[in-house]
Amino acid sequence: MKVLVIGASGTIGSAIVEAFSGHEVIKAGYSSGDVTVNIEDPKSIEDMYRKTGKVDAVISATGKAIFGEITKIGEEDVRISLLNKMGGQINLVRIGLDYINDGSSFTLTSGDLSQKPAKDSALITAVGIGIEGFARATALSLPGNSRINVVSPSLIRESAIKFNLPLKGSVPAAEVASWFLESATGEKNGMVRGIDGWE
Ligand SMILES: NC(=O)c1ccc[n+]([C@@H]2O[C@H](COP(=O)([O-])OP(=O)(O)OC[C@H]3O[C@@H](n4cnc5c(N)ncnc54)[C@H](OP(=O)(O)O)[C@@H]3O)[C@@H](O)[C@H]2O)c1
Repeated sequence: MKVLVIGASGTIGSAIVEAFSGHEVIKAGYSSGDVTVNIEDPKSIEDMYRKTGKVDAVISATGKAIFGEITKIGEEDVRISLLNKMGGQINLVRIGLDYINDGSSFTLTSGDLSQKPAKDSALITAVGIGIEGFARATALSLPGNSRINVVSPSLIRESAIKFNLPLKGSVPAAEVASWFLESATGEKNGMVRGIDGWE
């Protein structure tokens, strides 16, 4: 399979690249990789796909949304959350439809705060639910036997260590990477993979 991984240099993305080691992997990132892209900019996404040509799987392991108290979040926080993490991933699919082979898959990333809100996660929860809803609805009408799923990671163990957070409930990046592999190589469509399995 020819697999495009956006966010390939990241904590999750680098584990995904390893999990897909038996495949042809094209690494994409904001400032690194075989090809660079800014998911906030649809023209940049189109340029990326022009460079990669048609692929068999698009994996998005990127997306920024802002964690913050509702009384303190501002217009820029809302803009970034909507246009980067949610709009960016929606555009990866929308524009990517012209660059996938029959039977291809898209796998996007949300996060467990979508379904398990925490204090100050309002924007992250909102865009996570948006991404999951987008995938469930898009799955009903993707052309050419293509599929779309979402991986919803809990706190990644390596990130917990990096940011000095409690390890309880964290999951190794390699385990989450295997969920992306399941999505791309299996038959699931319109589903979300979290710590409790596919839903
Ligand atoms: N880590 C966690 O504990 C955790 C938990 C739940 C959900 N998530 C979600 O999982 C996703 C990946 O998280 P992560 O921790 O692996 O991220 P990360 O380590 O910060 O890596 C981010 C990756 O995204 C790329 N990137 C940044 N801005 C971009 C842009 N505008 N356009 C295209 N690519 C861009 C970076 O590229 P360059 O390096 O080239 O700049 C890098 O490859 C995010 O959506 C995050 O919210 C993470």
